[in-house]
Amino acid sequence: MSVNQYHGTTPEAPERFENPGPEPHRTRLADTDPRVAKHAERVAALIFTVSLLASVAAVVGYFLVPLDATLGTLRLSTVVLGTGLGVGMLGIGVAAIYWSKTLMSSAEHVEERHPQRSEDATRDVAATMMLDGVADSGIGRRPLLKGALVGALGLAPLPFLVPLVGNLGEDWDVAKFRHTAWGDVPSGTGGRLPGGGVGRRLAIDPSDTPIRAADVTIGSVFHVIPHGLTEQEDFLEEKAKAVVLLVRMDPRDLKVPADRADWSYDGIVAYSKICTHVGCPVALYEQQTHHLLCPCHQSTFDIADQAKVVFGPAKRPLPQLPITVDDEGYLVARHDFTEPIGPSFWSRER
Ligand code: FES
Repeated sequence: MSVNQYHGTTPEAPERFENPGPEPHRTRLADTDPRVAKHAERVAALIFTVSLLASVAAVVGYFLVPLDATLGTLRLSTVVLGTGLGVGMLGIGVAAIYWSKTLMSSAEHVEERHPQRSEDATRDVAATMMLDGVADSGIGRRPLLKGALVGALGLAPLPFLVPLVGNLGEDWDVAKFRHTAWGDVPSGTGGRLPGGGVGRRLAIDPSDTPIRAADVTIGSVFHVIPHGLTEQEDFLEEKAKAVVLLVRMDPRDLKVPADRADWSYDGIVAYSKICTHVGCPVALYEQQTHHLLCPCHQSTFDIADQAKVVFGPAKRPLPQLPITVDDEGYLVARHDFTEPIGPSFWSRER
């Protein structure tokens, strides 16, 4: 008795379940009433047209909406592009489903498994079935639907391609990443530095609560923004550049070079959260090893040793923010980063 290697049953074993086969076709109004079919065709065409218009709106919005315009806390251009893309894709899906439910035949076509290269006769049958399917969909007889479908599908890739092509060849202005909000101290956001002058206070993200050095225990991690940044108009843009991760470790574990001797305070160090690979937020801290991991491509930085890269594709350490405490015990930045934050592929002066 031979055993079926896939199912563990003998070939002679009776099937346990009857194959119920496809559900019988239920006659719809559109099958018998040409006016209902026409109405369904118009509705599907309308949905395709909405998709088409959404794709166009996304492309137009990409060029027309200023980058600094906001909608609440969101960047308006992102909202327009995302909505256009979403409605464009959703429209095609909804229209196709509606079309298939109301106008296409529900007859199920079954094709048995066969070797990849079918017999010529089978291929001819398949080609005939495909042509029958096209005829069955009625697209040849419905020029309005055909035009709307072609238009929606034709324009759908544009919102993806236009920003891509638009950004190619764009020359990144690295000066934008050389200056962050840590270099500015608006009134009421700073504290007095030990040697004179003022520095911007470090605050918890997103509550904007200034941080006392005494409240940072060994092993703790804070996501930090410049104090008072949430009040600024360009809050999101500046936050994207200025976010840092604050960590306290045993000062004996820190390797501090002479030129950074006053950049940390009693084991507290602050490093840019923007990965130097391609800019993801680096935020996974492993207290035992003092390693900071970027979740995107696993670049790993050693916080105990100037955030040098110990693994992964990043090519340079995370920029360090020089910090100290002010006369009230709050952590403050001595000055801005001394190098541009973010990815290394942007053109940089040496
Ligand atoms: S962005 Fe961080 S490893 Fe790629």
